Amino acid sequence: MKIGIFDSGLGGLWVLAHLEREMPEHEYVFLADQAHVPYGERTAEEIVNLSFKNTDFLLALGCQMIVVACNTATSAAINKLREKYSDIQFVGMEPAIKPATENSKTGHIGVLATKLTIEGEKIKESINKFANGTEVHTCIGQGLVELVEDGKSDTDEAEELLKKYLEPLLVENIDQLVLGCTHYPFLIKRIQKILGDKVNIIDPAPAVVNRVKFLLEEKGVVLNDGVGNMKLFTTGDENKMQKFTQELFPNINVAHIAI
Ligand code: DGL
Repeated sequence: MKIGIFDSGLGGLWVLAHLEREMPEHEYVFLADQAHVPYGERTAEEIVNLSFKNTDFLLALGCQMIVVACNTATSAAINKLREKYSDIQFVGMEPAIKPATENSKTGHIGVLATKLTIEGEKIKESINKFANGTEVHTCIGQGLVELVEDGKSDTDEAEELLKKYLEPLLVENIDQLVLGCTHYPFLIKRIQKILGDKVNIIDPAPAVVNRVKFLLEEKGVVLNDGVGNMKLFTTGDENKMQKFTQELFPNINVAHIAI
């Protein structure tokens, strides 16, 4: 099975790494739309158009399923994608409000995501559906995506900015933090340092892997049916992305693509 994955940038690589680790038999084509990152500061209309372009590129390479490895693009565009490409299966990312509220003992959870995700309808729907009396404290992580893109995830600069967002959530007595952007798991070391061990951090990737697995099983796609491979593309600077992917996927070249 050939699975296409896109994100505005490097965050989706976190999802790709989880997919590949759990299901190494499949073929993966990953597109980082780094020419247009960050999506979170754009309008929903722009993100829909960019998502169409990303999808066209992945479909032209023969992908049979698309993972929108971006909470922001899921929030702004997944309904439109499903309408336009009605014969293709899309898997999106939504902030994990449900498990967070179920796990919370203090009755307070935090959600850290981009501006567009926090202000979008989808998250409001999830909160209405799943909060069940739990207080959901949302926070826009302005500037965090840029730090990850610039390779500054594990720096004091990142920690200072994270403190600004996370300390007020600690005052609210949260015991769960939902990472509502696929870039944020790359900041997990510094996030954990600020939050300590009383707050559980919810990574967005495992739920997506489970969903993809479930859909493939439902389609009758047999696992262990081939040797997988991976292709990595960026609309931005391929050398910059290559530096980032060196550790995650050491033998895979990144190619530039203009779309
Ligand atoms: N990785 C993204 C997300 O999950 C994109 C953030 C952005 O480009 O602003 O929301």
